[in-house]
Parts: sequence; C-alpha cells; structure tokens
Amino acid sequence: MENTQRKILVTSALPYANGPIHIGHLVEYIQTDIWVRFQKMQGHECYYVCADDTHGTPVMLRAEQEGITPEALIEKMSLAHQQDFAGFAVDFDNYYSTHSEENRALAEEIYQALKDAGHISRRTIKQLYDPEKNMFLPDRFIRGQCPHCKAEDQYGDGCEVCNKTYNPTELINPVSAISGAKPVEKASEHLFFNLPDFEDMLKTWTRAGHLQEEVANKLDEWFEAGLQQWDISRDAPYFGFSIPGEIDKYFYVWLDAPIGYLASFKNLCDREGLDFEAFTRPGGDTEMYHFIGKDIMYFHCLFWPAMLHGSGFRTPSAVYIHGFLTVDGQKMSKTRGTFIKAETWLKHLDPEYLRYYFAAKLSNRLEDIDLNLEDFIHRVNADLVGKVVNIASRCAGFINKRFDSRLSAQLSEPQLYDRMVSGSGTTDVAALYDNREYSKAMREIMLLADEANQYIDRMKPWQLIKEDGREREVHDICTMGLNLFRLLMIYLKPVLPVMAQKAETFLNVEALAWKDLKTPLLNHTINNFLPLMTRVEKEKIDALIEESKSDLMTTEQNTNDTGHGDYLQSDPVSEQIGIEDFMKVDLRVARIIRAEHVDGADKLLQLTLDLGGETRNVFAGIKAAYEPEQLIDRLTVMVVNLAPRKMRFGVSEGMVLAAGPGGRDIFILNPDTGAQPGMRIK
Ligand code: 2FM
Ligand code: ZN
Repeated sequence: MENTQRKILVTSALPYANGPIHIGHLVEYIQTDIWVRFQKMQGHECYYVCADDTHGTPVMLRAEQEGITPEALIEKMSLAHQQDFAGFAVDFDNYYSTHSEENRALAEEIYQALKDAGHISRRTIKQLYDPEKNMFLPDRFIRGQCPHCKAEDQYGDGCEVCNKTYNPTELINPVSAISGAKPVEKASEHLFFNLPDFEDMLKTWTRAGHLQEEVANKLDEWFEAGLQQWDISRDAPYFGFSIPGEIDKYFYVWLDAPIGYLASFKNLCDREGLDFEAFTRPGGDTEMYHFIGKDIMYFHCLFWPAMLHGSGFRTPSAVYIHGFLTVDGQKMSKTRGTFIKAETWLKHLDPEYLRYYFAAKLSNRLEDIDLNLEDFIHRVNADLVGKVVNIASRCAGFINKRFDSRLSAQLSEPQLYDRMVSGSGTTDVAALYDNREYSKAMREIMLLADEANQYIDRMKPWQLIKEDGREREVHDICTMGLNLFRLLMIYLKPVLPVMAQKAETFLNVEALAWKDLKTPLLNHTINNFLPLMTRVEKEKIDALIEESKSDLMTTEQNTNDTGHGDYLQSDPVSEQIGIEDFMKVDLRVARIIRAEHVDGADKLLQLTLDLGGETRNVFAGIKAAYEPEQLIDRLTVMVVNLAPRKMRFGVSEGMVLAAGPGGRDIFILNPDTGAQPGMRIK
C-alpha cells in the first residue's frame, strides 16, 4: 500500500452510562481498536476517541434508584467502563463524557446554527404523563396491551408478539413502568429538527461511497417511507443539557450523543494542541470514521450527517456498520450464562483470546457474528498457541542456548521471507485490514504461519544440531524461523497488542511497525524466550459461564444484546425454558413473621420469612400494595434457591412470589390454609 500519511479521526459508539460493558459491546470496540492500531502501525496520524453517553431518562431513574446523583452515577460508570476497555487493550486516545462543557458548547452551537438556518420547528404534541412521578413517560417506560393483537404487557412503542409499531397513546390499559400509575395524556410543546429539509443532500450522500451497499439499500427504504421531523426536546425532569432560550426543556439524549464524538476530540485537541477545525470542518484533507452497530444506523446515517451538514461541520468519510453478536448461535442470554460482562471475562480468560476470535470472525459486512464456544477453544489453541507461538518456541531454545542469544547475519531462505512479506501472493494483509476484512486477514496470516512451521519441519534443526559441522546452518535456520515469527507478530499486532509487546521484549526490539517487515532482524541479540500465550482451558470457560449466570442476580442491566439499548428491561421476551430448568426452582411455603419499611426505598419492604425452622431475609418490591402490618403471619410462596443478592439495603435471600400488574395491584401468592412453612410446592 502507498504510504502517504493520512489524518484520521475514528470513533466507536458511545456506551450508555447505565450499564456495564459486555462482550456484545466488545465486538465493536475490538473491531475499531484493531483498525486504529493498524492505521497507526502504518505511520498514519490517527486518533481514536470515545466517551460515555450519559444523558437521558434511564440514567436519571437509575441514579434515583441507587440514591445517588446522576453525576455520581456517570462518574462511577465511566471509571468502570474505562477499566473494562483497558482490560481488553482497547486503546482510546481520549475517553470523555457527553456531560461535559465541550459537549454543551458544541450542542448549543449546532442547535443554534440549525435554528438560524430555519431547520428547527416547534409544535405541541400530546404524550403520556405519569401523574404520580410528575413526568412524561418515554415509550419504553409504558407497558400495556397491544392495540393490534391484544398481547399483554407490551412496550409503548411496539409489540414484541405481533411486531407492529404504534403510539403509546394507542396502548390498551397503559401503566407507567416507573410508578405503576395509570398515565394521563398531556400536551407539551416540543422542538423538532426538520430532517426532510435534507432529503436531497442525504440521498446524494448515502450513495456517494460513505456507506456499505447493504446500508445504502436499507436507507432507500426509509427514503421511500418518507423522512419525518425529529423530536429533539424533552421536558423536565430530564438529565441532560437545557435548551438555550427555552424553559424546562432539554436536548434529547440522541441529539447530544453523537456530538459527544466531536466533544471528546475537542477535549483531546485542547490538551494536545491539535487542530480541531482541520478535522471537523468541510474541505480539509482529513478523514472521519464512525464504527457503529446496525441498530443505530438511522441516527448515524440520516440525522447525524444532516445535523453536521446543516450546521457547517464536515460529514463523515464513512460510517462502518457491524452486526450483532450471538453466542453458540443464539441471542446472548442471562439465564444461559452467555450474557458475559467484560469484567467477568477478564477474571477467567485472556482478553486476547476474544480479540483474536472476533478478528477471525469479522468481515466488513452487517452480518451477525457468532461466538461458538467449542470453535473458540479450538481456534485459539490451534492458531495462536499451536501455530504462531510454536514457531518461536521451536527456534528460540537453540538461539538462546547454542548461540548466546544472538541471531545470525543472514536468513537461510531469504526468498521465502520476501514472499511472506508480500502475503501469500493472492492477498495483501494490509489491504485486508484497511478494508476491515479481518477474517480474511486472519486466514491469510495463519496460512503463512503454516508455511513457517512447514519450513521448520523441513529443516529439522533438532536433527542437524546433532551432526558435526552443521551449527552454522542451524543458526541460520533458527534465525529465519524467528524472523518469520517476528513477521507474523507484525501482522497480528493490531489484533494481539499484548502478545506483540511480549514478543518485542523477547526479540529485544522497539515497538514493531509495518515498515519493519522489510528489514529482517539480523546480527542482533535477543532475550530469553518468554511464555507468550497459554492454551484456553475448557474449565475456565465453564467457570465463566457459571459466574455469568450468577451475575444475573447481582446486576441490573439496562442493555440489549447489541450493547446499545436504551431500555430498562433487558430480556423483554422471556426465552423458553425446559421442564429441567423449571424443576430447578425450589418453591416453598413461608410464613411472614416480620415486615418493615426500608429507609430510603420507594418500593421495597423488608420481610423476615419462616421456612419452618430456618428464617430468611427478603427485600420485596411490594410496598405500593401492602402495609407491613397486613402481611404479618400470612403464608406466601417463596423461591428458596435463588442466589443471595446484594442490594443497597442489605442481602436478599430469596424471592417472594406475587402476581398482578404491579404498582398497587400486587398479590402475594397465598397458599392454601393447611400449608405449612417449609413445605415444598410441586
Ligand atoms: O446505542 C447506544 O448505546 C448509544 N449510547 C450510542 C450512542 S453513539 C453516539 F451517537 F453517541
Ligand atoms: Zn401485538
């Protein structure tokens, strides 16, 4: 590839500050990080920025639930996210927050420019309002019966049974998911971004090579359906930036989220003296790329370019969109233990196993990728340990012990080395990385690793060394072997930065760059061989899955499977379970011997339950329905084998079963008189 230096700004989607990073998110951060590392190794000037996406109702409510301020919550989440990213060697040049002064200033600037150009309008709309919480309800916080198929308990924006979309006001018997109250309709004035003003610009832009073809096709469907004005304001209470010139109105989280890309970069520019304008205004020689998942295409391929264009900023060079992650062919699932948090992975397995596996699966298309756990073990062990590390370990001993750790002055087969520098002849590894065809790149690199191993098999240094007068040949062969290993490590470094660093220490060299391929390492003293990577063990995977199952009890996740959801309920449709799963639930009759209010908790009562000899402490979300005194001495049904769950107020040691729509109407399951505490329910 021609190497004129490029100036590149790269982003990944900003993770919400209301939930932990999990392996679904990591597909994107790893995909982007590999690309950025590759560009940097090419010698390009490349900046990778990201931030926590901090605003919106879910963050506000979660902070309230935890009894802390939204600022304290986002601070805590940001630290946790950054720790997870560092654990997976995702190396941002800046990690910032959308709740920052830079972002406020940029959001105001963009809004003002759009307003001045006549792209903002206002009109009064009716929305559902929670009369108890005194707030308008986002669609996802309203549940009710589907107006089409009449399925119960559906979200305000669409039905998961018949897949129809509708307005929340059409739901039958809606209830607020926050308070359980019946919402009322209330009018309020909202501000709208006039997306239809940009129809021509967007139609041209989406076909001008900035998008994958399948994405441009999808966008055509949206153009056909007609572009709509976009509601960009939210009423108080809301955690976000207030809109200048308005009272009690805030920018919708999705307005300031992508602006957060620019804000994070601005923060970096101010700190390091970089030219923000050069990267963010039209007409320069810089490039700007956004990596995102397919669920947030509409925001990034329509709203975002239109906002940028309408306010005097540059539009993206490209938006690169990936698919979702499945595990063993299925949606990630908390009950199956495949909803794996980054933090949990790091406790059990090497992060580079996952980086490699994702690379081996990723293409530049929108298709979903599957983490097949059997295949994962096999792939990592066979490729990385069996092929790549093996080359070094087969040659290093001779160099370290026989040749005083010094490489010889020549390669035994320079033609083979040269051929491997230009790939196997059919494909250029660098071009594959640049085009985000990582799975093809990994295949190519492993073919080269096979060739390197075959070379050593053919040369048999372990036999030659026993023959008189052939030391020099062995020296050249092993020097050749280690140079092939070094070449493979250069190719793999964007994917395996930690292993590459260990290899650099072992080879006693500076940070490897792409240009180093051309100059083999000769007449050079290396260090003693270090273990570079160990095999994946099945037991570790089992432990990871087990721990992820119990994470279910201790976290309240607010994410969907792509990692980029804005929803409170993360498993909206319960997955099917077999009778074996159901039989695991140990249900017992319990007598409520004490019931008390919990200081500071809106919904909880603390119950002491007698199981016929043993007592349990349980926090139950039934405060709206019962006065504690009403409960004393009543029998109920409880799940006794639920893992203890640490809550803000103490440890809950089980769960009381109740039925009803929630809020005031909850009914403690009331076993027959005649039941005895401790009795098992079959
Ligand atoms: O979907 C999500 O998780 C959003 N937090 C992504 C925002 S990306 C950008 F626009 F900020
Ligand atoms: Zn329906």
